[in-house]
Amino acid sequence: MAEHVILIPNSRYVILAAMVVLLSSMPDPCHGQSWWSWASSPPSPSASTNSSTATPPSPLYTSPAPPPSPSAPTTPATPPSPTFSVPSTPAAPPSPTFGVPTTPSTLPSSAPTTSSTTSTTLIVMTTSFFFGPETIYTSVQDAIDAVPENNTDLYTIEILSGTYTEKVSIPATKPFITLQGAGRNNTIISYNDTANSTGSTMKSATFTVFAANFTARNVTFQNSAPHAVAGETGAQAVALRIAGDMAAFYGCGFISSQDTICDEEGRHYFRDCYVEGNIDIIWGNGQSLYEYTQIQSTANNSSGSITAQGRASDKETTGFTFVGGSITGTGDNILGRAYGLYSRVFFIDTYMEDIINPVGWSDWPTVTASKGHEHYGEYGNTGPGANLTGRVSWMVKLTEAEAANFSSLSFIDGSLWLSSQT
Ligand SMILES: *[C@@H]1O[C@H](CO)[C@@H](O)[C@H](O)[C@H]1NC(C)=O
Ligand SMILES: *[C@@H]1O[C@H](CO)[C@@H](O)[C@H](O)[C@H]1NC(C)=O
Ligand SMILES: *[C@@H]1O[C@H](CO)[C@@H](O)[C@H](O)[C@H]1NC(C)=O
Ligand SMILES: *[C@@H]1O[C@H](CO)[C@@H](O)[C@H](O)[C@H]1NC(C)=O
Ligand SMILES: *[C@@H]1O[C@H](CO)[C@@H](O)[C@H](O)[C@H]1NC(C)=O
Ligand SMILES: *[C@@H]1O[C@H](CO)[C@@H](O)[C@H](O)[C@H]1NC(C)=O
Ligand SMILES: *[C@@H]1O[C@H](CO)[C@@H](O)[C@H](O)[C@H]1NC(C)=O
Ligand SMILES: *[C@@H]1O[C@H](CO)[C@@H](O)[C@H](O)[C@H]1NC(C)=O
Ligand SMILES: *[C@@H]1O[C@H](CO)[C@@H](O)[C@H](O)[C@H]1NC(C)=O
Ligand SMILES: *[C@@H]1O[C@H](CO)[C@@H](O)[C@H](O)[C@H]1NC(C)=O
Ligand SMILES: *[C@@H]1O[C@H](CO)[C@@H](O)[C@H](O)[C@H]1NC(C)=O
Repeated sequence: MAEHVILIPNSRYVILAAMVVLLSSMPDPCHGQSWWSWASSPPSPSASTNSSTATPPSPLYTSPAPPPSPSAPTTPATPPSPTFSVPSTPAAPPSPTFGVPTTPSTLPSSAPTTSSTTSTTLIVMTTSFFFGPETIYTSVQDAIDAVPENNTDLYTIEILSGTYTEKVSIPATKPFITLQGAGRNNTIISYNDTANSTGSTMKSATFTVFAANFTARNVTFQNSAPHAVAGETGAQAVALRIAGDMAAFYGCGFISSQDTICDEEGRHYFRDCYVEGNIDIIWGNGQSLYEYTQIQSTANNSSGSITAQGRASDKETTGFTFVGGSITGTGDNILGRAYGLYSRVFFIDTYMEDIINPVGWSDWPTVTASKGHEHYGEYGNTGPGANLTGRVSWMVKLTEAEAANFSSLSFIDGSLWLSSQT
């Protein structure tokens, strides 16, 4: 396999590109014009055929999603009750001796581990060049298309500042791809499909990953479709769909309205990220750890849900843990609702603004069939939204040991694939 290893400091890309224009007289019509090829890319071999995860959730305030299990009732959504009885015991203060770090200590390596030491860098920039080296692309999808199938080497795709208006998909046959952006406010991949425009919530995703061992750093994934309006159907607009195993995101942004991150399946690590949305902001049946991540709700005058986790049985190791981040924004939000009978979500050492409905959690849409099966826990959270007094009786006040357990990298088997650099 022929390879082009380019090692150029960041600041020289533009100079390099300019030189390329000046020096090259060989037109190369192949670059930059074929990002629409996503439309014909094959469906994921790992895409779930499991009806419990294949059906997108619908907003709290529109017609209910098909229930995740045949036994679940079809009762329409009842928004979380704003009224609750006030028990006399105040919430326990967080333990000052708790072992979860509140400042980053060990930073897992941001590159996937591969036995190969060969690394190839492909460069993506917004400016359209019809000349130049093979390794400069004007669309992210073109660069991904250039990665050979079944590669064992690491491919780094450097995406320079700019907004890339395209839909991107990484097939399962292309592991070990790393995206490196120029900062989440600078490198933005954006599209505006919706469940209506594509026929399914999952297909609305701007960026889809079916491959294992994917890493992204300092990139924003956006779905720019209009905000969901109360009563509207089909407005689901996924920014990222992550269905590959062992994926890591550092310093990334995820921006949409409804269903921002489809954390579909596999083990995933998010760190120092920013996630914005209103309904079911993070949903799916992934097994994921979100560290030091800000979640911004835009559910201003409507009920919103931060998560909709889809664990379907107690045999599954899936769930979402949030540690050391914050929940900010507007609206009347719950922390999670059951998108699977055994839905599992933990918030630990998280600052919560006064935008959390006191009940905290909902078993909708699985309702009574799942009562007692969800595993929703909190520990050591702070801020006005973290008051446990009004919470549903079946949420779990985690012990220190449980909180440490669920917030450790071992929750996502991190030692297998996230190597530490202290
Ligand atoms: C769907 O998931 C459930 C729970 O893990 C499992 O029992 C069932 O076999 C799965 N169905 C399919 C079609 O994969
Ligand atoms: C992903 O990486 C892990 C560990 O580095 C490795 O065991 C696994 O085989 C890789 N997966 C693929 C599909 O290459
Ligand atoms: C990549 O691997 C898949 C699955 O093993 C195989 O079907 C495909 O032909 C391979 N592609 C190449 C280019 O070797
Ligand atoms: C990501 O961006 C932040 C802030 O702009 C910067 O401090 C950091 O070094 C960047 N990290 C990587 C891996 O690009
Ligand atoms: C991105 O912009 C927002 C809003 O201006 C700012 O709060 C944030 O710190 C910026 N993030 C980075 C990594 O530059
Ligand atoms: C996406 O944006 C384009 C251009 O503004 C517009 O024509 C199209 O209708 C939008 N699609 C959706 C689903 O909103
Ligand atoms: C989606 O399509 C349905 C049926 O055509 C329509 O009622 C609804 O308003 C559409 N939603 C959006 C967000 O366009
Ligand atoms: C929030 O309010 C803005 C303007 O006030 C509106 O455009 C937007 O649709 C609202 N969002 C929701 C989720 O209701
Ligand atoms: C929010 O919704 C309520 C009930 O639908 C309505 O009475 C109120 O005017 C709305 N407020 C804003 C700011 O849109
Ligand atoms: C929690 O909420 C209850 C009921 O609103 C209130 O009485 C109590 O003072 C709150 N606790 C804290 C620590 O704010
Ligand atoms: C620790 O977490 C694992 C899953 O990562 C779970 O199987 C185990 O029951 C947990 N142990 C405790 C004491 O919570």
